[in-house]
Amino acid sequence: MLRALLLASLVLHAERVSGADTGAAADELPHKVAVPAFAPYLVPEAALWEQFAGDPERAWKRSHAAKAGRQEDRYDGEWAFEDVAELAGVTGDRALVAKSEARHHAISTVLGQPFDPAQRGLVLQYEVKLQSKLNCGGAYVKLLTAPVRGEFSDATPYTIMFGPDKCGDAKVHLIFRHRNPLSGEYTEHHLTRPPVPPTDGLSHVYTLAVHTNNTFTLSIDATEKRSGTLFDDFAPPVNPPKEIDDPDDHKPADWVDDASIPDPDAEKPADWDEDAPRMVPDDDAAMPKAWLVDEPPMVEDPAAKKPADWDDDEDGDWSGPMVANPRCAAADGCGPWERPLKRNPAYKGKWSAPLVDNPRYKGAWAPRRIDNPAYFEDRELYRLSAVGGVGFELWTMQSGITFDNIYLGDSVAAAAQIAEDVWKPKHDTELAVHAALNPKPPAHTAVSGVLESLRARFDEIYASIGAFYDMLRTEGLVAAFRGESRGAVAAAMVTGGLAWLVWNVLLLVRLFSPTPAVAPQRAPAAGGAPEAAATASSTARPATRSGDATTTKRK
Ligand SMILES: *[C@@H]1O[C@H](CO)[C@@H](O)[C@H](O)[C@H]1NC(C)=O
Repeated sequence: MLRALLLASLVLHAERVSGADTGAAADELPHKVAVPAFAPYLVPEAALWEQFAGDPERAWKRSHAAKAGRQEDRYDGEWAFEDVAELAGVTGDRALVAKSEARHHAISTVLGQPFDPAQRGLVLQYEVKLQSKLNCGGAYVKLLTAPVRGEFSDATPYTIMFGPDKCGDAKVHLIFRHRNPLSGEYTEHHLTRPPVPPTDGLSHVYTLAVHTNNTFTLSIDATEKRSGTLFDDFAPPVNPPKEIDDPDDHKPADWVDDASIPDPDAEKPADWDEDAPRMVPDDDAAMPKAWLVDEPPMVEDPAAKKPADWDDDEDGDWSGPMVANPRCAAADGCGPWERPLKRNPAYKGKWSAPLVDNPRYKGAWAPRRIDNPAYFEDRELYRLSAVGGVGFELWTMQSGITFDNIYLGDSVAAAAQIAEDVWKPKHDTELAVHAALNPKPPAHTAVSGVLESLRARFDEIYASIGAFYDMLRTEGLVAAFRGESRGAVAAAMVTGGLAWLVWNVLLLVRLFSPTPAVAPQRAPAAGGAPEAAATASSTARPATRSGDATTTKRK
């Protein structure tokens, strides 16, 4: 039986390789990259091997429940089994796709018979492709605890939750649920340092292996990202501490735990004047010779003339505008002179007694330690609860989250072979298609080199203006103009003005010189390709940097 399956696998595999000819003809595609056609891949032994190629509608059941039982949070996000549309690395490759934006999605399948990780460990692998990329949403899978009962929802018990999630920060969840042998209750244990998932539009393969020696490895794209033990790398740790503080032991009221106290025998020295002011007028200072005590700092403008149409009866007595007294400008100052202040050498401030060791000090108090009544020790954490099904239960703001090639079993080698045979060639083709649709900007000419350095200068300018503006907002105008960024802003404004001029001249030069080779048009179908392909038609400036400037500006 096994041999027959292997043989069939080989035949199909050979077919798949030759499928390059039967796939989409490269000439017909806008990117001119040969894309092989889908052919099923056989995995001889697995608890689940799902390519969504046969009749997935029969095996997978959409949930009509509601998250946390709230009717406004129904799982009404649409699921489809359809060919991958964006940046396809295989033609006719059907996958499971979450189709709706800003919706809860839930779908699950039940295994023919439960899978028990206690036998030979557990290996879970699946592919995720974010066809519209991802700003906020989940793309993780749940292994449902056997027996799976009722309509699938967030309340359905799971054994492992694994895969990417992003909303703000992106991380790869790895959570297992452990059954407390004393209470029978389940608790979640989260990987303490989850890796960061890729969130581009390409296919990525996520692999988790839990071994019978209680270790695990987590890989993305067949490269190990984390490994460790189920004991040490998850929070909270499964096994509780053997001893705990006695909750009934309380600190006695008369316990003294102040190690030092103000010296009770110390007295304030007689010559300690607590009232002496911090600053006093500087008696050594003398009024500058050229100080004009009798001159007012401001005087009426002698040059001002009463307007011809001034009516004393209606407008009152006319007086000219006040201006700085021109005599003061020539002198050291005008008006009453005041002594500057200086530090008072007699200033001592409030007196306090020096600290001495507390003779009644008993040491820091700590409660008595007792045996933890909740203590247990599970030395075989890999013996997780048997898995009865597989489900996706997700919220997403972006549509087009795509799942494919789910493997659940106990063979690290089988998972590695699948990644090598199924994911790798597809990923390579996706990269080739992406490269063809997003050619690198044309080689630098002298003009584009200058433009490039100007852009870099612009980024700096935006950054200083940003810093200046932040200071202005938080600390006010005066601080901002005193701040370090003042010079930068002034320089930025001057350079910015100059640069703007040069920039426009260069643009004109460029407009009237022969245009460099224009990149091939991108396929209309590949809307979600990594890095928007708007670069192809932009000839005026190196488009790869255009995003940076806005980012800097928004900071
Ligand atoms: C645990 O088992 C796995 C799989 O057999 C093996 O690769 C790994 O080296 C083992 N780790 C330790 C610490 O024994």
